[in-house]
Amino acid sequence: MTYHRVKGCYDILPEADEPWKDPALWQFVFEKARKVAALYGFKEAILPAFEYTEVFTRSSGEESDIVSKEMYTFMDKGGRSVSLRPELTAPLLRAYIEAGMQQKSSDRFFYIGPCWRYDRAQKGRYRQFYQFGTEIIGVSEAYVDIECISLLMDFYKAVGLKGTLLTVNSIGDKETRKRFETALREYFRPYLSELSEDSQRRFETNPLRIIDSKAPSDKELSKNAPKISSFLSDAAKIRFELICETLVKENIPFAVDLNLVRGLDYYCDTVFEVVRKEDEGRQNSLGGGGRYDGLIKELGGPDYSGVGFGTGIERVCQMLCEENQALPAQEQLDYYLIALDESCQRACFSHLQEIRKQGFSALLHYKNFNVKKGLKAAESLHARFAIIIGEEELKNNQMTIKDLLKRDERVLPISFLMELSNENRHKILT
Ligand code: HAM
Repeated sequence: MTYHRVKGCYDILPEADEPWKDPALWQFVFEKARKVAALYGFKEAILPAFEYTEVFTRSSGEESDIVSKEMYTFMDKGGRSVSLRPELTAPLLRAYIEAGMQQKSSDRFFYIGPCWRYDRAQKGRYRQFYQFGTEIIGVSEAYVDIECISLLMDFYKAVGLKGTLLTVNSIGDKETRKRFETALREYFRPYLSELSEDSQRRFETNPLRIIDSKAPSDKELSKNAPKISSFLSDAAKIRFELICETLVKENIPFAVDLNLVRGLDYYCDTVFEVVRKEDEGRQNSLGGGGRYDGLIKELGGPDYSGVGFGTGIERVCQMLCEENQALPAQEQLDYYLIALDESCQRACFSHLQEIRKQGFSALLHYKNFNVKKGLKAAESLHARFAIIIGEEELKNNQMTIKDLLKRDERVLPISFLMELSNENRHKILT
C-alpha cells in the first residue's frame, strides 16, 4: 500500500520534480518577503491554522466563493464549528482585537503561512497554498494604501519578477456600493437567464462579483454595465485620484481597471490586484488586496480602518521559473567525509562532529566504503571538499582532501580538521 498526497497539494523537496518546488527557491522568496516587509516597518504575526468558522463567515461574506464553496469546515470534538483558514486577514484582525492591540503601538503586521481552500485543483491553484501578506490597522490615510501597493511591487522586484501588471480601482464606501448594486441589478435583470449559474446566485447577494466574473457570457454582458466610477462620492473620487497621482509620482506602473472588485466582500475604496502581463484572462492573480474599513468593527473590535494584501508563494515561484530568472544557487556543503572501512568510519565520525562544532557543514558517506560512489554523492550534494580516509591515511594520521571546485587533491595531516579557521581553510585551498 502506498499513499499519495491529498489532491491539490504538492511537496517541496530537494531535487524536486519541478524547479518551482525547490526548497532553496522558497527560502529565497521567504527571505525577500521578510526583508521588504521590515523595510516598511512591518512585524511578523504567526497565527493558528484554524479559527472558529464565524471569524470567516462574518468577514469574508457568507456568499463569497471562499466561504460558500471553498472552506474546509468541520465540527471539533466539542461540537464547535471550526475552519482551516482560507486567508489570513480575518485571523489577523481576530488576534489584533483579542490582544487589545489598539492600546499598543504596533499597527502593521505581515504573515507568511499556509491557507486552505477547496478550490478546483490545477496549475497555480492548490488546496493548500502559502500566502505572504500584510495588514495596516487603524490608519485611514490614502498613503498607507500606496505603501501596501509599493511594498507588494517591491517584493516582486526583489525576487526578480519582470512581467507583472498592477491594476487598481476604487469601489467606494458602503453607501456607494449600495447605490451601485441597485444600478447593477437594474442593468442585469433583463439578462438574468443568460448569466452563468454563479452570477445568477450573486445577482441578489453580491452583484458586484458579476462584473469580475471570468465566465465568457458574464464578461460580454458586463462590458456595457454601469461603472462604479460614476457612483463614487466626492471623497472617494478625491482619494482615488490621490492614489493614482502618487503611484505615477512614485514611478509605480499601473492600469485602472473599473471592473476590478475582488472576491471577498469586505473591501471598500481602494482595491488592487497584480497579474502576469500575458495572463489575458486574469485567471490567476499573483496577489491582491485593498481597504476594508468597517471589518474590524464587524469582528467585534474598534471602528478602525484597515488595508492590506496577500500574494501566493506558489504563483511567485512558478512565474520566476517560467521567466527563467537566475534562481538562487544550491546551498553548498563544506565537507563530505568518505571512509574506506569500518575503523576509518569510526575515526571519520568524530571528525564529522568536530567539523560541525567549528561551524562548518559536514556529512559522512554511510552507504558503502566505495570512494567512487562517495565522490559522486559529494558532487551531487554540492560539497566543496571531499575528505577521504582509508587504511593508509588512518595509520599516518592523515587525510586525502579533494577540492571539488578546483579539482585538485592533496594529502594533509588530520590535525588540519581540528582547527578549520579561515587561515587553515586558506591553506587547504592554496
Ligand atoms: P485573495 O485574492 O483571495 O486575497 O488571495 C491572495 C492571493 O493568494 C492570490 O492572489 C493568489 O496568489 C493566492 N491564492 C489564492 N487562492 C489560491 C489557490 N487556491 N492556490 C494558490 N494560490 C492562491 C486574500 O486572501 C486577502 N486576504 C488579501 C488581503 C489582505 N486583502 C487585504 N489584506
